[in-house]
Amino acid sequence: MLINFNSKYAESFVSDDELNAMAPVAVKALETLTDGTGEGSDHRGWIDLPVDYDKKEFDEIKKSAEYIKQNADVLIVIGIGGSYLGARAVIEACKSSNYNLLTKDTPQIYFIGNSISPAALNDVLALCEGKDIAVNVISKSGTTTEPAIAFRFFRELIYSRYPKEEAAKRVFCTTDKHKGTLKALAEKEGYKTFVVPDDIGGRYSVLTAVGLLPIAVAGIDIDKLMKGAADARTAFNEKDINKNDVIKYAAIRNILYNKGKKVECFISYEPSMAMFNEWLKQLFGESEGKDGKGLFPTSCVFSTDLHSLGQFIQESGSTIMFETALTFRSSLSDITIKEDADNADGLNFLAGKQMSWVNDTARKGTLLAHTEGGVPNLIVEAERADEYNIGYIIYFFEKVCAVSGYILDVNPFNQPGVESYKKNMFALLGKPGYEGEKERLENLLGL
Ligand code: PA5
Repeated sequence: MLINFNSKYAESFVSDDELNAMAPVAVKALETLTDGTGEGSDHRGWIDLPVDYDKKEFDEIKKSAEYIKQNADVLIVIGIGGSYLGARAVIEACKSSNYNLLTKDTPQIYFIGNSISPAALNDVLALCEGKDIAVNVISKSGTTTEPAIAFRFFRELIYSRYPKEEAAKRVFCTTDKHKGTLKALAEKEGYKTFVVPDDIGGRYSVLTAVGLLPIAVAGIDIDKLMKGAADARTAFNEKDINKNDVIKYAAIRNILYNKGKKVECFISYEPSMAMFNEWLKQLFGESEGKDGKGLFPTSCVFSTDLHSLGQFIQESGSTIMFETALTFRSSLSDITIKEDADNADGLNFLAGKQMSWVNDTARKGTLLAHTEGGVPNLIVEAERADEYNIGYIIYFFEKVCAVSGYILDVNPFNQPGVESYKKNMFALLGKPGYEGEKERLENLLGL
């Protein structure tokens, strides 16, 4: 197995008896998922996606990525939640969090429409000055307010820059196959469209066109990404907790949850994994947090956050949390610390050492400290953050999340709670159809 799941540092918190009791529940949850007998079973398209995807569309994605690479300095990706996090996570993980500053052969990629901040929008508009641009607007529903507002601005920009026919060629829409405002607009204007399959929800959609087009534009090999996911698909089917780390991890996190560890902190030792942490937070948070249940997912990048949240984790973390570290055996690049004649900084004890070794040693020290502080630690270890391994890891976590949701007895594929803020926002904004609610909310706000 490509991933090594290490639960040794949680053993003093989870007894064999507890694991033995949870094992059949976890196996049942896996069966519920694979048999399609659970709630939300019509949203399991991601399970076979790594092998059962639209090959023709896959080729079209590659062609469009080539077109964008040839014709644009900047790709603007417009989307929110599952419609942008996966792409951004993979690009930063496989390339760098400084991708836009470092890229030479592939377009810069800016993500917008993931907030309603005018400052963020103005920044990205300014970044497009003097640059050839292309836009990939992504919305499964095709009606989400945040990307819709951003798309209006970037459509205006693109039509102000290029003749109508060329402008249309620079817009790529990823949305529902048949319905939604975005689909209708794309048809009317003649934009190239890609499909978000009906049976795949936003947070499970990174390996569809949603993620694949921006990822391919960044020069990342999407065949390798899919191959990694395909290999993970075959690796995690065993109905035995000792042979399947998906169910082992799902079981342990539920045991810890039942014992009061309501917070799971995803840890990385690479700043380039910060967005992957964000993707994990959405995946688990939206999938499990419902019906008054669910682990609260949060994240840290160490050693950075050891100098901010480390104090809390060490001395108070034991009351609420456990950590799951995603680590890599080898770094995407490395550097050797040199000998210094004066040794004025006192660092010659590290001379000749690789920085990756120092990072890993810090990891080991932190692992022991936090475990001693009463914070159980789980480790998911992979070889390196390349396309293949990242595809594998994505699939692993997706499956853990779905199995874990069924252990928790929630529907891991819906997100009814996301609608509440939208209803209030629409009413307060004066959207037609929400008139009655507007007055009530304004009274509550004292307006
Ligand atoms: O996981 C989800 O379903 C959500 O996070 C959606 O991706 C997000 O709300 C954006 O929705 P849409 O793609 O319909 O614009």
